[in-house]
Amino acid sequence: MVARRRIVLALLAATALFVAACGSSNSSSSGGSSSSSGGGGTKVSGAKVIDPNSMNSPPKGTITYCQGKDTTGSAKALIKDFNAKYGSQGWKVKLVEFPASADAQRAQFIQRQQAKSGDCDVFSSDVIWTAEFSSQKWLYDLTPYIDKARSKYIPAPLETVHYGGKYWGVPETSDAAFIYYKNGTAPSTWQQVYTQGKSGGGLVYQGAPYEGLTCNFLELAFAAGGKVLSPDGKKSEFNSPANLKALELMVNGIKNGEAPKSVTTYMEPETDQAWTSGKYAYMRNWTYAYAADNTGSSKVKGKYKVAPLPSFEGGGKAGILGGHNSVISVYSKNPGLSLKFSDFYASPAFQKKLLLKYSQAAIIPSTYSEADVKKAIPYAPELLQALSQAKARPVSPVYPQISQAIYKNVNDALAGRMSPQDALKKADSQINSALSTF
Ligand code: GLC
Repeated sequence: MVARRRIVLALLAATALFVAACGSSNSSSSGGSSSSSGGGGTKVSGAKVIDPNSMNSPPKGTITYCQGKDTTGSAKALIKDFNAKYGSQGWKVKLVEFPASADAQRAQFIQRQQAKSGDCDVFSSDVIWTAEFSSQKWLYDLTPYIDKARSKYIPAPLETVHYGGKYWGVPETSDAAFIYYKNGTAPSTWQQVYTQGKSGGGLVYQGAPYEGLTCNFLELAFAAGGKVLSPDGKKSEFNSPANLKALELMVNGIKNGEAPKSVTTYMEPETDQAWTSGKYAYMRNWTYAYAADNTGSSKVKGKYKVAPLPSFEGGGKAGILGGHNSVISVYSKNPGLSLKFSDFYASPAFQKKLLLKYSQAAIIPSTYSEADVKKAIPYAPELLQALSQAKARPVSPVYPQISQAIYKNVNDALAGRMSPQDALKKADSQINSALSTF
C-alpha cells in the first residue's frame, strides 16, 4: 500500500513537473535561451519560506555544506574565509565532499533528503536540479531573500534557481566550457579541433558515462543544429541527422586517433590529469581548469590559452550552461546560519576571489571588469559572454533519465560497442519511454 501510494505521489509530482516544464519556456526542446528556462512552471505550494532577517543573528552552531569533490580548493578557501570572519562569534561551517560525478552528488543528496536528514544544511546543487528538488519540497523558498537584490546577479545563473515563480537557491558559480590549446591560434570549428589536434596528441574531454558527457555531446549536437526533445517537450527528437553528424565526429575522432580512447572513462579530474601531462593538443573543459591546471607540477603550466567553443561546420556555435547554487535543506536545524553562509558565498569579495584565483565563473557581472581580474583571467569578457549565450539542458521531470539515455548510448558509441546510428536510435526510444512514464 505504501509502495503504491509512493508511486502515485511520484507520478503526480512528475505530471506537475511536466506541465511546468512545458508551460515554462521553449527550452525543453533544444535547450533554448537559459534565461527563459526556469521561472515558469507549476507553483510549488506549502514550501517553507526563509526569513531573510534570520541570517543577521542566527543561533550559534556549526552547519554542514555539502558539495562535489573540491578539485580546485575553492570550497576549502570558502570554509576558511567564513570561519575566519564569523567563527569567533560562534558561527561556523564544515565541508563534506561528495564524489566528482554530478550524478553521484545528486544521489547522495537525494538519499539524505529521503531520510529527512539534516546532514547537508546547504547543498551545492547543479543548475539542472532546481525543479526536481523544489517540487519534492526539499528546499527552502528563498524568494524573500533574492527579491532584496535581484539585480545583483547575472540573469542566466539567477534564472537557474527560478522555478514555479519562486527562487529556490542562491547562485554560487555559473559555468561554461572552453577549448584549451597550446600552440598557434584557436581552432574555429569542431572539425578543426579534431583534424588539427591529431599531430599534437589529440583532444581530451569528458567521455565517461555521466552527466558531463551529456554536456560534452550536446555542445556539438546543438552546434550542429540538433535537438533533444520536440518543442512541446512531449517526444524525443534525438535521432536526427544533425545529432548523427555530431556523434560521428566524436566517434571517428577516437577511431582516427584524434582523441585517445581513454576519454571514454574521463570525468573532469581525469581530463585535467591528461591535459597537465602535456601529451595532448586540446582539451574541452569548464572554466575552472584554467587556474586548476596551471599549478606546480603541471607540464602545461603557463603554456596554454583558452578559446570559446568553436562552431560546427554547416551549423553554428553552442555552449551549455553549467553552474551550481546554494540550496538550503528544509531539514536544516539552522536555516538562518545556512542563509548567512549562502549569502557569504555570493558576496562580491568571495565572488572576486573565485574568478581571480580559481577561474570559476562569478555570478556578479561587475567582477569581470575589475582590472586585476582581467589581468589574471584574460578571457574574462568571453566568459561573461559565454554565460549569457549558453543553452540550458532540457527541462523535464524525467531529465535524469533523459540524460542517462544520452550519456550511456553516446558512451557505447564512443567505446565502439554500438554504431552511432544505433546509439541515437536506442537513446531516442529510451527518452520516449522515459517521457511516457508519466
Ligand atoms: C560542471 C557544471 C555542471 C555540470 C557538470 C557535469 O560542474 O557546472 O552544471 O552538470 O559539470 O559534469
